[in-house]
Amino acid sequence: MLTMAHEPLIRTTSLTVRFRRRGQSPLLAARDISLSIGSQETVALVGESGSGKTTVGRALAGMVKPSSGTIHFRNRDVSHIRGRALLEYHQDSQMIFQDPFASLNPWHTVSHHILRPLARLAHLTGNDRRQAADELLAAVGLTPVSVYRDKYPHELSGGQRQRVAIARALAPRPSFIVADEPVSMLDVSLRAGILRLLESLQDQHGLSYLYITHDLASARYLGHRIAVLYGGSLVELAPAEEIVESPRHPYTRLLLAATPGRNPTGALPETQPGAPDLSENRAGCPFAPRCPEVLPICRESRPNLQEFASGHLASCHRMSP
Ligand SMILES: Nc1ncnc2c1ncn2[C@@H]1O[C@H](COP(=O)(O)OP(=O)(O)OP(=O)(O)O)[C@@H](O)[C@H]1O
Ligand SMILES: [Mg+2]
Repeated sequence: MLTMAHEPLIRTTSLTVRFRRRGQSPLLAARDISLSIGSQETVALVGESGSGKTTVGRALAGMVKPSSGTIHFRNRDVSHIRGRALLEYHQDSQMIFQDPFASLNPWHTVSHHILRPLARLAHLTGNDRRQAADELLAAVGLTPVSVYRDKYPHELSGGQRQRVAIARALAPRPSFIVADEPVSMLDVSLRAGILRLLESLQDQHGLSYLYITHDLASARYLGHRIAVLYGGSLVELAPAEEIVESPRHPYTRLLLAATPGRNPTGALPETQPGAPDLSENRAGCPFAPRCPEVLPICRESRPNLQEFASGHLASCHRMSP
């Protein structure tokens, strides 16, 4: 596994996603997020439920448009592409979803799920397409392929379904995959196998991942770098080892303190009850209402993300000079 970032493959600049709400100020599910992912790099995006992880992932996969800010893929602005350009982008950028039960169509066989993107996005036909589908099923460990090809989703276990979803994501030969909590709905005994599969596919196919999780242990296992999201804002970003050894943001420290052991399948409890306020008109640091180290300034002004050691960024007034 690589340990350092290369040339950015995908880069967001002040990415903001705003959702309108009836009778309330708009909600900012992602706010001013500047993040890059290198070629063959995994950035693990960590945060509790409702922090905006899926929204950021969907924006990077071209499934939701930024309200402001930009997304560049291979130095090309893909923030507002539509139609054919978007279809082409989906050849490069795919998404694996949390729920392998809901993400497969119960009326279609395993091979149908793989053949379709092979035709639509990879433009393969006939025997080439069937052979490519078999190779993909073998690559994700669904062997002998003849046993799985004609099965329907309900005939598979959760882990097997997630393998089908991974094969489907690989079909257009993407270079970037957003994996949105791909193991959180699986039995604990199956999680490590799927994480190892993602890791080995990265090596074989030179993939970059945005690995979304609320579990810091698996983030550390798969991520070269870890990005911590709180209330739609990026609060800390650093190489995985460094964030675990010397977390700088009070929220990251609380997350770490709550992580049971170093087990890559361990779950991460919430720090305290109460969801973060994502309102557009909210003032101050998003973590201020729950921060054990809060200062008066934290309730008034939003701290900027600052680099205080090479490659280690955090946004906290406590760290301002
Ligand atoms: N399409 C949408 N329209 C309106 N609000 C949305 C939409 N998608 C997400 N939200 C809101 O944006 C916020 C962030 O949601 P998001 O799904 O990105 O969080 P998450 O970190 O992925 O949470 P979880 O861990 O539960 O999956 C939530 O308050 C959610 O209700
Ligand atoms: Mg989510």
